[in-house]
Amino acid sequence: MKTAIVLGGKTGLLGQALALALENRGWLVHALGRGDVDIFDLTAIKHFLSTTRADVLFNTVAYTKVDQAEDEPAEASLLNRQLPLILGKAVAETKALLVHYSTDFVFNGKKDTPYTTEDLPEPGSVYGQTKLQGEQELLNLHLPNLLILRTSWLFGPGRTNFVTRILELAAQRSELSVVHDQVGSPSYTLDLADNTLALMEHGATGLFHLANSGQASWCELAAEAVRCAGLTCQIKPITSAEYPQQAQRPHYSVLDLNAFSRITNIIPRPWPQALREFLFARFKAQI
Ligand SMILES: NC(=O)c1ccc[n+]([C@@H]2O[C@H](COP(=O)([O-])OP(=O)(O)OC[C@H]3O[C@@H](n4cnc5c(N)ncnc54)[C@H](OP(=O)(O)O)[C@@H]3O)[C@@H](O)[C@H]2O)c1
Repeated sequence: MKTAIVLGGKTGLLGQALALALENRGWLVHALGRGDVDIFDLTAIKHFLSTTRADVLFNTVAYTKVDQAEDEPAEASLLNRQLPLILGKAVAETKALLVHYSTDFVFNGKKDTPYTTEDLPEPGSVYGQTKLQGEQELLNLHLPNLLILRTSWLFGPGRTNFVTRILELAAQRSELSVVHDQVGSPSYTLDLADNTLALMEHGATGLFHLANSGQASWCELAAEAVRCAGLTCQIKPITSAEYPQQAQRPHYSVLDLNAFSRITNIIPRPWPQALREFLFARFKAQI
């Protein structure tokens, strides 16, 4: 039986989706949370890899509080830069594949066409910088079994995210203001997990971009979620300048998915379709 370790698999937004997708495909899954293994202890990770005879180590653990990272660069660096390096060293002496996730926030957002993996990153935030450093630490190890996936704007079950937060607020208010001048690629965690496994099954290694197809502003994503949920709250577009946030975010960070599609022959489904499925499943769970 194929065996996977999913760091962040117990509580993380993406980690839980990956654990589910793997179990659905008959894998033995060790979904880990805080305290299960000391993830910063190289020897402990190596020992866990060897005792479980894991085929794949998925890393979804990250410092993901984008604004708070501006005040806590050391903590962000520990999780986003040093942890991937430790994990890379841990798999180096094994045959296990390391699958690591990164972000569209490595880009400066000055383009107006989708970002490919050839585009030069230039992060504008501590979160983006530390995530880019994590990628670079891993690539510098020249591991034969490494897959790095940059993804963006996650929504899905199991943990609060932009879509669930908007729905909570929209249920309580008659109007919500949401920024319309940041455009990206919304990603449904269950699709991201399935598409990750498809890429793995094709033996892909290296750096890829992976999201749902299409693009949206935060305002469009919020409006579509509210509409699909049957709520009456008005979504009012505002500029980033009208909604100051501590960390600078790219105005445009749509990801080019062609490299993924060339290898897998899969075009990820459009985000509105994935959003409807997520909201329908959520609605069914509540009745
Ligand atoms: N969310 C997005 O929109 C988005 C966009 C682009 C890229 N990404 C990338 O996708 C990956 C997954 O993101 P996500 O949204 O699924 O993350 P998430 O929901 O915030 O989950 C992060 C996981 O890391 C764990 N963790 C955090 N600090 C830890 C620590 N000090 N020690 C041990 N575990 C710790 C968390 O555990 P607790 O639950 O115990 O805190 C949680 O399981 C990350 O690499 C992220 O950078 C995410």
